[in-house]
Amino acid sequence: MKFLAAAMVAILAGCAAPSGNHSAHVHQPTQAAVDHAAHAPAADPRVLVQFPEMLRTHTLANMRDHLLALAEIQDQLARGAYDKASEIAEQRLGMSSLGLHGAHDVAKFMLQGMQAAGTAMHRSASQFAIVAKDASVTGDLKGSVAALARVSQTCVACHAAYRIQ
Ligand code: HEC
Repeated sequence: MKFLAAAMVAILAGCAAPSGNHSAHVHQPTQAAVDHAAHAPAADPRVLVQFPEMLRTHTLANMRDHLLALAEIQDQLARGAYDKASEIAEQRLGMSSLGLHGAHDVAKFMLQGMQAAGTAMHRSASQFAIVAKDASVTGDLKGSVAALARVSQTCVACHAAYRIQ
């Protein structure tokens, strides 16, 4: 528990550090971070879903690729490469990614709500892929960013509700 609290302080301090001014980045937790960690709720409200060890490792690796895909999509959008952003979303996060992620094997260990959260993510990513594809003609950056935000919201929703470790 002590270790956990220390880790949280370190993480929170990292977040609270001023960005873009590395010389001022002192590796000391701020008082606000310490207070926050001290008052953080002890109970974890997320539902624990039991996965076999290999599947758990595999799922976490997929998750890290999800985050990488989001970063790549943002990068492509910033370059105005809408087609590329669309393709990454569909192949790595969208309905086309179900085979890639072995979704069928994983689904049977998931609670129904978690399955639904996963489906919502795949759907929203495929919807983003369509919006971004259209944007390659219309240049609708705002619409694309809004559609991407809806994808991120599906990540947040599942993370708020479930854990596998
Ligand atoms: C269907 C549920 C679900 C969806 C949707 C989901 N995740 Fe996750 N993700 C999880 C769970 C469960 C964990 C493990 C959390 C835990 O056990 O503490 C996790 C962990 C992670 C991790 C940590 C991986 C590690 O190595 O520890 C990252 C990064 C991540 N998810 C990114 C994403 C991104 C980005 C998205 C959206 C594009 C996303 N996830 C969508 C359920 C989901």
